[in-house]
Amino acid sequence: MDHTILITGAGKGIGRAIALAFAKEAKNTQQFNPVLVLCSRNQEDLDSLAQECQSHGVRTDTIACDLGRLDEVNMLADHVTRHHHTIDCLVNNAGVGRFGPFESMTEEDFDYTMGTNLKGTFFLTQAIFPIMKEKRSGHIFFITSVAAEKAFRHSSIYCMSKFGQKGLVETMRLYARECNVRITDVMPGAVFTPMWGEVTDDFRALMMMPEDIAAPIVQAYLQPGRTTVEEIVLRPTSGDLQDA
Ligand SMILES: NC(=O)c1ccc[n+]([C@@H]2O[C@H](COP(=O)([O-])OP(=O)(O)OC[C@H]3O[C@@H](n4cnc5c(N)ncnc54)[C@H](OP(=O)(O)O)[C@@H]3O)[C@@H](O)[C@H]2O)c1
Repeated sequence: MDHTILITGAGKGIGRAIALAFAKEAKNTQQFNPVLVLCSRNQEDLDSLAQECQSHGVRTDTIACDLGRLDEVNMLADHVTRHHHTIDCLVNNAGVGRFGPFESMTEEDFDYTMGTNLKGTFFLTQAIFPIMKEKRSGHIFFITSVAAEKAFRHSSIYCMSKFGQKGLVETMRLYARECNVRITDVMPGAVFTPMWGEVTDDFRALMMMPEDIAAPIVQAYLQPGRTTVEEIVLRPTSGDLQDA
C-alpha cells in the first residue's frame, strides 16, 4: 500500500535518520510502499538523502523551504496537495536551538527559534490536518523534546518553544481523536546531531544516536490503525545532560 510521508528537517540529524528508517523498513518488509516527501532548507542535503533512500528502492520528492516563513509553509502544503493529492503521515521534526545563559539571549535568537519551532510547526500542521480529517486517517508525529517538560539552564528560549509545541500536541489530540487521526509526541533527550555543533568524545558518549529515535517512530507508524502510540520518551541511559 502507498503511504505519503512528509518529513520536515529531513536533511540532517534525526529527520534524516527517520527518512532512512522508513526507506529501510520498506525495503526489508516489501509490504509497505512509502513516498518520502523530504523538506529542509538545504537542497544538497535533500539530494544526497533522496539518493540514499532511492538506493533502497523508495520513491522520494524533495522540497527546499524555510518553515520559519509562512509563504514557504503554504508553498510546501500546496506542493504536497498538487503533486501527491494525499498525505498519510506528517513528521513535524524541523527545529532549531540557540543555547546559552538566559541573560545572553537576544531578540534575534528568540524570533529565529520561535519562527521554526512554533510558527512553522503550527501553520504546517494547520495546512495538512484538513487532508487527514477529510479522509479520516493519518498520523502526525511531533518531535518535541524532554525539554518540553523539563527546564535546562542554557535552553531558556528552546524550552519555551518546546513547551509551546507540547501545547499544540495536546490541543491537536482533541481534534484528531474525532476523525481517527493519530498523534504521537516524540520526546528525546540528547541526541548526537549537527544541532549540538562540535562536541568532545566524552560528551558524545553520553548521547543517543539519531537512528535510536527513528526506529520507534517507524514502529509506532506501523501499529494497526486502531492503536496510537501517544508518547515516545527516549533518554540516554545515563540520564539527561544537566548543563545543556
Ligand atoms: N539533537 C537533540 O539532542 C534533540 C533532542 C530532542 C529533540 N530534538 C529535536 O529534534 C528535531 C531535529 O533536531 P536535530 O537534532 O536532528 O537537529 P539538526 O541536526 O540541526 O537538524 C535539523 C533539521 O531541520 C532543518 N531545519 C531547521 N530549521 C528549518 C526551517 N526553518 N525550515 C526547514 N527546515 C529546517 C535543518 O536543515 P536546514 O538547516 O538545511 O534547514 C535540518 O535538516 C528538532 O525539532 C529538535 O528540537 C533534538
